[in-house]
Amino acid sequence: MSKPAIVIAIDGPAAAGKGTLARRLAAHLGYAYLDTGAIYRAVALKLLKQSIDADDTPAILAAARSLDPDELNSDELRTDRVGEMASQIAAIPALREALVEFQRTFAANPPGGAPGAVLDGRDIGTVICPKADRKLFVTASAEERAHRRYLELTGKGEQVSEDEVLADLKKRDERDQNRATAALRAAGDAYLLDTTNLGIDEAFAAALDYIAAR
Ligand code: CDP
Repeated sequence: MSKPAIVIAIDGPAAAGKGTLARRLAAHLGYAYLDTGAIYRAVALKLLKQSIDADDTPAILAAARSLDPDELNSDELRTDRVGEMASQIAAIPALREALVEFQRTFAANPPGGAPGAVLDGRDIGTVICPKADRKLFVTASAEERAHRRYLELTGKGEQVSEDEVLADLKKRDERDQNRATAALRAAGDAYLLDTTNLGIDEAFAAALDYIAAR
């Protein structure tokens, strides 16, 4: 039997730098990478395109079950509108349940025969992979996260103000932290990485030190 895959769980609030860090760690370690937010966003995008409401659970579950992995790579996923819808539907327990198996299968059998997997999201270290080999909880101040998200969105041509982005982000944090199922919180055994005053290279170095030291 081959060795069990090494699993690295990275959780944290919106725009804390999880995605950039997770992608870079995966590339460095030769592991597969799964952006679990993209799954919620892909379901949200389907709903928006089909004019399905955020409270129509049967239609949402049908959309989730018909999701094609190729849909996780769409350029349309990273808009504010899709993020907001993703955060609304992510509070539906039946939807979360429907997406568990896909995420656990990815972690246990990383595509391409990779020796490990990096998953980023909100509940990877707490619910999806509570036995992950390494857990990071990546945060930054709301203002710094709003600034980064503002640059990301305007860089892609979206017309938004930094104040709007900050208000939206706080609303999303509040919803993610207070939902009844799989609320956003750091696992007790997670390494806390505050990137408020760290550039990408510094955050990467700190994460690698933690991964190597355990
Ligand atoms: O990039 P950003 O951090 O803004 O968001 P994302 O990671 O793409 O996730 C979009 C939304 O999906 C979040 O606001 C969460 O509500 C939800 N989500 C979740 O509930 N659980 C996950 N594992 C990943 C995302």
